[in-house]
Amino acid sequence: MIAISDPGELEMAWAHQYERLSQRFCRILPIQGLIVEIGCGKGQLTIPLVEMAPRLQVIGVDRFMGPYSKSHTELLSALAGRGKKVGIRVVVSDYNAWLETQPDSKYDAVISSEFLPELDSKSMTDFFADCNRVIKPDGRTIHSFLSPEPRNQRQRRLIEADSEPRWTKTPPEEWFSPTPRQVLEALKGAGFKECRMVKLRSGLVIRSLAARRMLRDWDIRQSYWKLHRTALESEGLEIPDWLIVGARKVSQS
Ligand SMILES: C[S@@+](CC[C@H](N)C(=O)[O-])C[C@H]1O[C@@H](n2cnc3c(N)ncnc32)[C@H](O)[C@@H]1O
Repeated sequence: MIAISDPGELEMAWAHQYERLSQRFCRILPIQGLIVEIGCGKGQLTIPLVEMAPRLQVIGVDRFMGPYSKSHTELLSALAGRGKKVGIRVVVSDYNAWLETQPDSKYDAVISSEFLPELDSKSMTDFFADCNRVIKPDGRTIHSFLSPEPRNQRQRRLIEADSEPRWTKTPPEEWFSPTPRQVLEALKGAGFKECRMVKLRSGLVIRSLAARRMLRDWDIRQSYWKLHRTALESEGLEIPDWLIVGARKVSQS
């Protein structure tokens, strides 16, 4: 377990989380090919992924609106700092509008990280149907997201702060995250096979001023910090388990 209290350590702690996630994605993805990441944000997963798998070409699709409007500039400057060789192309678009324009069976994989929490059940079902259509036979889809099922009080605190409209300025459509069962069933319903889930413990506890900064970064009201200050200073928040759900598109025979 890593516990941080200094806000200056947050960035490094998150980078470590995404490195571990990228390793898991790399185990499932082909070593080369053209893949799409929906909701790439500032490239939290995208950048470590192409660094670990430099023969992958990634199209990152994101609309960069509302609370995520700054992510576009952050992504572009992170890419500029890495030179021309990075295999990432950024498309600014709503994911639905973009997927509609894509031909059938073009991509080796469609992936996402912390994007399913942005959807609701109906749009998740439709999204997986689109993923299935644009992926090549035998291609993969992989989606990671934070578990909505807390294992302890610190995780429960984080989920509550990020879900309840009295605390968060950006309450979710339907869920903090879908449950693994909802995701697996929706993937099967969309025609995917070999639907599997792995769990990765985050092991990241955030206390004190680092917790205060994280709440601010996540658009959670100051009133939450004020009311729970004692617990946030001593016990803190904990990032829930990462759930990584993957599936394969059946090949046509
Ligand atoms: C929680 S962030 C995840 C960012 C990053 N992938 C990560 O792992 O942290 C969700 C991202 O989905 C994007 N997003 C949400 N709804 C979208 C939509 N309808 N079309 C395209 N992108 C969308 C947001 O702009 C945001 O960058």
